[in-house]
Amino acid sequence: MVEPARRRRGTMALLAALLLALAGSASAWPHDGAGAASGFGRGVAGGERRYRDLAQRRLDSVRSSFGARRDLATSSAGARVYHVTDYGADPTGSADATDAINKAIADAFRPPSNGTMTGGIPDLGGAEVHLDGGTYLIKGPLTLPASGGGNFKIHSGSLRASDDFPTDGYLIELSAEKSSTTRSYDYEYATLRDLHLDCAHRGGGVLVSNSLRVTLSNLYIVHFASDGVAVHGGHETFIRGCFLGQHMTAGGDPRERTFSGTGIRLDGNDNSVSDVVVFASGTGIMVTGGANSISGAHCYNKAAGFGGVGIYLKVPGATQTWISNCYLDYTGVVAEDPVLLHVSGSFFLGDANVVLKAVNGVAKAVQVTGNLFNGRDKGVDIVQLEGEFGTVDQVYVQQNGAMGMNVRSTAARGVVDGNGTSQWTVDFSETLLFPDRIAHVQYSLVAADGFPGHALQNVSGNRVVVATDKPVTATVHVMVDQNTD
Ligand SMILES: *[C@@H]1O[C@H](CO)[C@@H](O)[C@H](O)[C@H]1NC(C)=O
Ligand SMILES: *[C@@H]1O[C@H](CO)[C@@H](O)[C@H](O)[C@H]1NC(C)=O
Ligand SMILES: *[C@@H]1O[C@H](CO)[C@@H](O)[C@H](O)[C@H]1NC(C)=O
Repeated sequence: MVEPARRRRGTMALLAALLLALAGSASAWPHDGAGAASGFGRGVAGGERRYRDLAQRRLDSVRSSFGARRDLATSSAGARVYHVTDYGADPTGSADATDAINKAIADAFRPPSNGTMTGGIPDLGGAEVHLDGGTYLIKGPLTLPASGGGNFKIHSGSLRASDDFPTDGYLIELSAEKSSTTRSYDYEYATLRDLHLDCAHRGGGVLVSNSLRVTLSNLYIVHFASDGVAVHGGHETFIRGCFLGQHMTAGGDPRERTFSGTGIRLDGNDNSVSDVVVFASGTGIMVTGGANSISGAHCYNKAAGFGGVGIYLKVPGATQTWISNCYLDYTGVVAEDPVLLHVSGSFFLGDANVVLKAVNGVAKAVQVTGNLFNGRDKGVDIVQLEGEFGTVDQVYVQQNGAMGMNVRSTAARGVVDGNGTSQWTVDFSETLLFPDRIAHVQYSLVAADGFPGHALQNVSGNRVVVATDKPVTATVHVMVDQNTD
């Protein structure tokens, strides 16, 4: 097997280790006609020796091509892949590697050309900071140069915060916040991927500040004290295929009441969170900016019963958030004054629900439709109001399915029979979402015989009352809607 010149160092190291293992184990194989105890040293049979020689030659060849490659990599004319171990970072995680990795980052941030990206951000030409599959101890945040940069990657390894890591820091900070730049954005088209980040219960995992088009992919972030991922300003950060938790746990953790911190904090616009799992934290996803999309999020962080929230939309009056195909597992969605909110195709387990929380009492253009809810027969509403809503417009809570929970909707149907009666009441107080609010009623009276005079009399308290001018045998069908449109 010939090593292609462009093989990455990590692959080579792995192969070298494999060949070493093969070379070592060759001598231990049992051989024909010899006693079991004679496996080592002089007793080695010819065939095995040939195998060992072959393995050794392969190893030597790998080593020499590896050496050649390193010369190339460290020459200025070489590829722009910066291996942190080349900078002396200790991949065993014993010695502090902060300075070494920051040096590799600084080198990656030397632009290869005068090319720029949006708003003059230097184009780094696809530079990579490669963590070489190691685990690195860091005493302070890996900070990206304030000179800014775009078109680069940091990937493939583990970072662990030291016991004295600053509690207000993040392991990786895409942030020029501490310097005063005049650019609109500092980083663009940055990719952080295949990283395990252990925040050691000190700070957070990743801070993406004032950046454009950043992808965080396949990150496993644990032991954060503040946030797993925080996005401040900027836009178009993609957070996908990530796992975030304050503790390494797979549920049913006795410490659940004490879970704190936030898995993902979106304090900006136009971001996308997809296919993530947030476990063991106070809040799964906290959204304080508009126009963010969340799909495929499985939240089983702190249960609602202990005060946890799966997805918290704290953007009253300007929510502009769409949540789809999510799994809210014992912890729900809270939206303050929802305006432009869509929740669909999601599964809510263990009495998890959607709470609409009044701040100024406005709910407008809200769609909670086509979701499934599974509860424990405790009478919990699938959608619940906190506080009073004075403005309700285009709020559609409809076509959700539930077991063991109370289905609430903004539109409902009912039917009542009467025999020799002149007043029919259909009570929607347990099914309609907003109390004492019926904007539209449609009814039909089906009389067994005769043509009684009839009229709608009252809709107060979400109870629809229909009266006839004389006692009759009839069935009354009623449809109501809480929207004013
Ligand atoms: C970059 O710009 C400087 C100043 O205009 C110029 O001297 C230099 O040759 C340019 N470098 C490249 C690689 O184009
Ligand atoms: C209505 O009540 C009367 C008297 O109890 C009964 O004879 C009649 O069958 C009832 N009609 C219907 C449709 O239930
Ligand atoms: C409608 O019903 C409510 C509650 O029963 C009552 O207080 C109110 O006076 C009724 N309104 C009319 C117009 O009958």
